[in-house]
This record gives sequence, C-alpha cells and structure tokens, in this order.
Amino acid sequence: MSLTHLALRGVRNLADTEISPGCSVNLIWGENGSGKTSLLEAIHVLGRAKSFRSSRLSPVIQNGSDSLVVVGRVLSSSHGTETTVRVNFGASGVELFADRVPLNRVSDLVLRLPLILINTDSHRLLEDGPRLRRRFLDWGVFHVEHGFFGMWKRYYRALRQRNSAIRRQMAPSQLAAWEAELSQAADHIDEFRRQYLALMAPWFARYVSKLLDINAAEIDYRRGWPGGRPLMAILAEEAHLDRQIGYTRQGPHRADLVIKIANVPAQQVVSRGQQKLLICALHLAQAALMGEATRTRCVLLIDDLAAELDHEHRNRLLSLLVSLGQQVFVTATEHNLFDQALLVGQKLFHVERGKIADVTT
Ligand SMILES: Nc1ncnc2c1ncn2[C@@H]1O[C@H](COP(=O)(O)OP(=O)(O)O)[C@@H](O)[C@H]1O
Ligand SMILES: [Mg+2]
Repeated sequence: MSLTHLALRGVRNLADTEISPGCSVNLIWGENGSGKTSLLEAIHVLGRAKSFRSSRLSPVIQNGSDSLVVVGRVLSSSHGTETTVRVNFGASGVELFADRVPLNRVSDLVLRLPLILINTDSHRLLEDGPRLRRRFLDWGVFHVEHGFFGMWKRYYRALRQRNSAIRRQMAPSQLAAWEAELSQAADHIDEFRRQYLALMAPWFARYVSKLLDINAAEIDYRRGWPGGRPLMAILAEEAHLDRQIGYTRQGPHRADLVIKIANVPAQQVVSRGQQKLLICALHLAQAALMGEATRTRCVLLIDDLAAELDHEHRNRLLSLLVSLGQQVFVTATEHNLFDQALLVGQKLFHVERGKIADVTT
C-alpha cells in the first residue's frame, strides 16, 4: 500500500494541508517543534485510528478546534486500485470510512493501510518486558497468516474464562473444558508464530548484516510453556499454583523473543545506536516478509531517523530504505544530514511552524 495523497485538518499545530507523497522515501525535515512528528501522527491516525503519543485522540486535535480529519488515497500494492480512507474524530467519537462507506472495526482500517512505526520509543522493543515483543510478533503473523487472528481471539477468550474460573475457586473438573480449548488454540498459535519466524529470520539476518556488519544475529523464540509437553497437561497439573496467584501462568500469552548476537542477548552487547539499527532491521524484516508473502506493502514511518546514528550508519539506513521500493516517511531536523545523492528522485517536504511545503527538486 502507499499513500498517493494525504489531506489533514485540525491536527496538532499543522495548518490544513494536502500533500502528494512519493512511493519511495519521503523526507520531512524542519526545526524542532515545526510539526514533523505531528505529520507522522496524522498518518498513524489514518492507519490505526489512534495516536502513538497519547492513549486518547483528543490531545491530537488542534488547540481551539473541535475535531480532526485525516483523509488518504491509498493505492493497493496488490490490485493497483485506489481507496479513499478517512478518519474523523470529534464530539461524536471516531468515525472511519473507506470510499465513503463507514467501517465498523479498526481492524478493517488496519488491513487497508498497514503501518510500521519506528520512533524514540522503539528501543523499548528490546529493553522492556515481553509484551511489546509479543505484540510485534503477532502484528507480523496477523498480516501474513489469515487464520491467526481468529485463533488468537479464541485463545484469549478461553484464557479470560479460565482466569475468571480460577479466581472464583471453581473445581478442577470445571476448568477442564477451558483447558482443552486453551491447549488446542495454543498449539495453533505456536505453530503460526514458528512458521512466521522461520520466514522472517533470514530477512532479519540480511538487514542486520547490511546495517551493522554483524553476521551472527538471530531471533530466539520462547513459546510460553516448557517444551516437550502439551499445555493441557501443564495446566491441569499446575492449576493449584495458578489458583494461588490468580491467573494462568503458562501459555502463548507468555511467549517472548530474545534477539541474540553471537549467542548473547543483544541488550548485553550493543550500543544505543546499534540497538536502534537492530530494531530497524526487525521492522524492515517484517515489512519485507509481508511484501513477499502477501504482496501487500506496508507504509513505514520513521521519526527522527538520524537520532543516535553517526553519519555512516544513518546513510546506510537511508540507502537501505531507498532500495526497499516501499513507501517510507522519514523525519529529520535537516535534509543535509544525509548524502544528497541518496535523496535524488525522492520526495522532500519542509515543515516550518506547522506549514508543510513540497520542496522536491
Ligand atoms: N493540540 C495541539 N494544538 C496545537 N499545537 C500543538 C498541539 N499539540 C502539540 N502542539 C505543538 O505542535 C508543535 C509541533 O510538535 P511536533 O510535531 O512534535 O514537532 P517536531 O516533531 O517537528 O519537533 C509543538 O510546538 C507543540 O507545542
Ligand atoms: Mg518530533
């Protein structure tokens, strides 16, 4: 997918704007506080109906305004057709439309404009607990394996039921039905995740080697319960322990990924800049696999690309982005942070006090 046209009104400090992005790299540059992140945020609102800076949408509405509108023309990478996607947010809440037809679910929007965001929070993917890594993994599987989402919902429904039964101190025999359901769904989820990672790992290794000159990067997958035994047996045997703490301690909801370099967890050996490049490699691997497996290309949003990267590595990253043949929105404080040769043929936008100008030469 790519955005061929974007119009926005009432977003943060941005003046009402219409732009025509290019299908490869779009570099958005301007001073601190000019509105670069807000532009990425507007695209994020269009693809996910939410911000990445606040849990609610209301702070995104321009001061003094009572609503925001983001409209994008989305070119399908597989069909070549265009859809006009629109997100309104105001007093009556969020409204989503595709070609003027209301969409009921955010997941309908997500499939129309799949987005990958890399910003100053992205280091948390490696540094925080497993939750963000599971979300990362499941986002990828969701877009590539069509049976996954249904199975995921089935698993989480059964998990909620079992947890609630545990808290009500129900007898083991009454947990059994949920445990059978959990165990079945767990095996499917595990299989989906494994297959996905087997396909993604080579892309990750390729990008790590391009960006970091490291040839021994791998992704270790932990499925969330001990190997060699069905989840069903573990749940039944350990129900008394689950009861003591009040929730189900094992299962795919506890899965994790460990990124390793030469067999050592990456967090222990990489610098901050290298960590950023590893995270970019993870996201670009997802994007590449999705393009290959589904012929759907997602749109990449990379805020402050140059931050924490030296001249050599920010140019390597930009050069890789140019070579992907995928739509990318990149922000930076200056366009001359990059080798100008890399920007030939790419779109440039200058943002100044909320005004976005197409300055492509
Ligand atoms: N709801 C809002 N209405 C108007 N201006 C806002 C709102 N929220 C934030 N701003 C302002 O928008 C400006 C642009 O912010 P941002 O997009 O983060 O800039 P940049 O990424 O270019 O540094 C900031 O100066 C901020 O104070
Ligand atoms: Mg910013």
